[in-house]
Amino acid sequence: MLTIVLATTLLVLFLFHLYKTTYRHRLKYADIPAVGWRWPVVGNLFDMSRTHLVLTDWYEKYGSVFRFSLYGEEIVVLSSYESIFEALVTRGSDFAGRPHMTRTDYQDRNRNSIVWQTYTPKLQFLRKQIHASLRMYGNGLDRLEARCGTEIEVLVARIEAAPNLTFDPWSLLYDSACNIMLDLALGLRLPHEGPGLNRLKEINGLFNHSFGPGSSRILDQFPALNFLRDEFRALKTAVDLRNQFWADHQHNCDSAHESAKTDNCVVRDLQRLARDPNNSEFDISEDTLKETFTNLILAGTDTTTTAVTCLLLVLLHKPEIQHRLHEELDHVVGGARAPSLGDREHMPYTEACLYETLRYISHVPLAVPHATICDTLHHDKTVWGDPWNFRPERFLTDSGRLVPAHHYCRKRLLAFGAGRRVCLGETLAKNRLYLFTTALLQRYHFRSEGSPPPLDPKSFTLGIVLHPGQFRIQAIPRTTGDHITENTNDHIDTGASMSLNR
Ligand code: HEM
Repeated sequence: MLTIVLATTLLVLFLFHLYKTTYRHRLKYADIPAVGWRWPVVGNLFDMSRTHLVLTDWYEKYGSVFRFSLYGEEIVVLSSYESIFEALVTRGSDFAGRPHMTRTDYQDRNRNSIVWQTYTPKLQFLRKQIHASLRMYGNGLDRLEARCGTEIEVLVARIEAAPNLTFDPWSLLYDSACNIMLDLALGLRLPHEGPGLNRLKEINGLFNHSFGPGSSRILDQFPALNFLRDEFRALKTAVDLRNQFWADHQHNCDSAHESAKTDNCVVRDLQRLARDPNNSEFDISEDTLKETFTNLILAGTDTTTTAVTCLLLVLLHKPEIQHRLHEELDHVVGGARAPSLGDREHMPYTEACLYETLRYISHVPLAVPHATICDTLHHDKTVWGDPWNFRPERFLTDSGRLVPAHHYCRKRLLAFGAGRRVCLGETLAKNRLYLFTTALLQRYHFRSEGSPPPLDPKSFTLGIVLHPGQFRIQAIPRTTGDHITENTNDHIDTGASMSLNR
């Protein structure tokens, strides 16, 4: 009897709480068009398994600013360039915050992390310091080029050493991109295929899963139900494994430790500030260092890895694009030296392909909640005309030059967000995408082994980052001027194939 009374009381309290939140939220956003149908209590939960697709449909139906509901909370979606620009840039400070989420509160991550902290003076200070440590200008770029060069050599050696030259590009690229981030963040490089990089891949997968489709938002609304959710278990495991990784490796950048190198890295620079008696304004605790490290590794690795993997997938589907990329590389760089960042400005077609990959795939589709949704903007018919066509030419002038930064299309490409919370690694990411893409294309022609998975991002799997399905890919060593056209497989004797098994 007591159990029934308790259960009924809890249910009544729960429904009352829900009613109050729903009612309050609806009143607040009454002027914004709401998505037509919502279920009692859960709202639009059942539309959330493929959030990035359903939002595009809603955009077409309800316009560029609309709202939907999840467990009584109203979520406002901004999809047009004008509304996003107004929110993130013109009224930047109003929208620079992050919403409260139980998942990001876990172990105080919202107080120490860059990604999940709201727009506090401490966050502004940390962003400035990290920018300075990353040094994506002047000789900082030479340093990045050298770091990428080392990792590209290891990557190529792994391709050459793989049995039958068959490998998983996402996995190999992940190791290389991750090692660069480890070096920048912690002054650390780990052996490829070793337990350390594998552990970071596992942590990446778990975090991605815990921030999966919108249905996992229940974790933030009703923390009492967390124990029922797979996403919460994934989050807990991810944080535990991350803590273990940190405990094992953080001494690497402690200047008191013998293994510490003398190069600067983000965590060591922050540690110095933490010890500086003149810098007492902000708490740079070990938790802040640990969260900053996690943000850089996670935000800086999967994004770049997935972008290069997606470009490879594009090349399998569109051999004519690969042909033009090879032509440009041969013309500008040739085969005698490695492509350098200095070549970038002379390679407009390569740049246009990278921009088009970021637009077409929109692989960080829901950004991080403010909440603005750039995916719908990147696939808006009224902006792009044929948004579901991969067409690098939209970023080129009639004479084949890259359109300037103020061009209509470049302005509407917001792959890195905009305003005060714009991606901290935008310059790093663009340079690294360029260096890895050109290094691979200089050495190999890529073709598919069997039929590749669809290129259509609507078929990809959604986490924080949108991932393509599994596919196998074949790399054929090439020399300068060696433009292999499609259906010439019979002429190729030394094929290297790689498989994507994720
Ligand atoms: C292709 C590669 C990348 C893409 C597409 C990308 C995209 C994004 C997006 C859309 C955001 C959210 C912006 C917002 O809240 O409005 C973001 C935030 C962030 N990114 Fe990136 N990113 C990439 C690479 C990197 C790299 C290499 C780093 C390493 C430094 C990085 C570090 C961060 C951090 C720390 C944030 C959080 C910033 C904040 O909340 O203040 N990202 N990124």
